[in-house]
Amino acid sequence: MQVTLRIKRFNPEADTQSHFENYQVEVEPTDRVLDALQTVKWYQDGTLTLRRSCAHGICGSDAMLINGRNRLACKVLIRDLGNKIQIEPMRGFRVLKDLVVDMEPFFAKYRQVMPYLVNNDPVPQTERLQSPEEHERFEDTTKCILCAACTTACPSYWSNHEFLGPAAIVQGHRFIFDSRDQLKSERLAVLNDMTGVWRCRTIFNCVEACPRGIDVTKAIGEVKKAILFGKT
Ligand code: SF4
Ligand code: FES
Repeated sequence: MQVTLRIKRFNPEADTQSHFENYQVEVEPTDRVLDALQTVKWYQDGTLTLRRSCAHGICGSDAMLINGRNRLACKVLIRDLGNKIQIEPMRGFRVLKDLVVDMEPFFAKYRQVMPYLVNNDPVPQTERLQSPEEHERFEDTTKCILCAACTTACPSYWSNHEFLGPAAIVQGHRFIFDSRDQLKSERLAVLNDMTGVWRCRTIFNCVEACPRGIDVTKAIGEVKKAILFGKT
């Protein structure tokens, strides 16, 4: 089948503003949007710039706005979109070129929640034990691949870039509810702020955007409760 890709282009060295360009591509219905984009890049226009790495929904590097929804290009099949596909960079981040956005502010917020296990007890001979029930408390948020689809789909983030955003809160949740972690109060202090969980207005765009199916709004709600009632 033939599809038309309508791709938002921006070259900071030549353009003052972005514009759309159309490309006709021959694809299989079972091809992914990433395959179509690579066909454009490899055979039609080598200047098209995008990020991708694993091509299997694991690295999180090819999140982009596909027909108005944040998706991973490597996980969306052409047959589910039809023959006209509009592709834009994620909203709310500075565009470096075409579909590539500046992720550095996103990772700066990620670092603020200290996304690593802290446990100052003597190192045990074997692993630090945890029951299945204890693990279940944060299992959902371990699935995050830091694609930024949630944060860049969030109107609260669009209106205030100081907001840490859903992804950073998800990463905080992953450690706050880990029974082995000893830095909960410090993480909760970072998130107990108008730039933290209280900026969330439970709009649920993040849940719809997350390619890993994480219940992001539920995780944010659990962090709010942990701050208010001290229960982790
Ligand atoms: Fe991506 Fe989901 Fe993690 Fe947000 S919570 S960064 S959408 S994987
Ligand atoms: Fe790695 Fe799509 S290229 S998630």
